[in-house]
Amino acid sequence: RDELVARIEGLVRLVPDYPSPGILFRDITPLLADGPAFAAVVEAIASSVDGPVDLVAGMEARGFLLAAPVALALGAGLVPVRKAGKLPGPTASESYALEYGEATVELHPFTVPEGARVLVIDDVLATGGTAAATVALFEHCKAHVVGLSFLVELDALRGRDRLAGHRVETLLHIA
Ligand code: PRP
Ligand code: MG
Repeated sequence: RDELVARIEGLVRLVPDYPSPGILFRDITPLLADGPAFAAVVEAIASSVDGPVDLVAGMEARGFLLAAPVALALGAGLVPVRKAGKLPGPTASESYALEYGEATVELHPFTVPEGARVLVIDDVLATGGTAAATVALFEHCKAHVVGLSFLVELDALRGRDRLAGHRVETLLHIA
């Protein structure tokens, strides 16, 4: 596992001042392009939850890239959690605050049965706004979020605090 974490660290490219000045962007495209590393990451995320999973949720856009293969690995269904206006509806919607302004995530509630056991996946846990809004969407559907799994977590932003009471697993922690 430590070996995998070191591999991930080497394959996540750091891009200063992207998309705006002062932001250090974590680019996962080198990791996605490395077949064995990508497979190992999918396998590690799929085994990060114990107990059955009915649905895997991935947040647009980069969460999709991890959630779909993990859903296949677990034999679970996939729920795309999309940015506002991308789903034809009817949708369940949840808005959250950004540093400037607001963002909205949506899903199709008719794809989420009451009581479904859901694993939520995204590439990065930063402030936790996206993940907390996603949890709220599934709670609205009366589903159970059995875990959240991230490739990278920016520990200093304390996004984990907004997911209190949930099982949160991250492969690569960044102080
Ligand atoms: C990034 C990242 C996470 C989210 C984390 O997505 O992929 O989804 O931000 O930030 P938070 O914990 O502060 O909410 P972004 O909105 O940049 O879009 P993308 O995945 O479509 O590139
Ligand atoms: Mg994202």
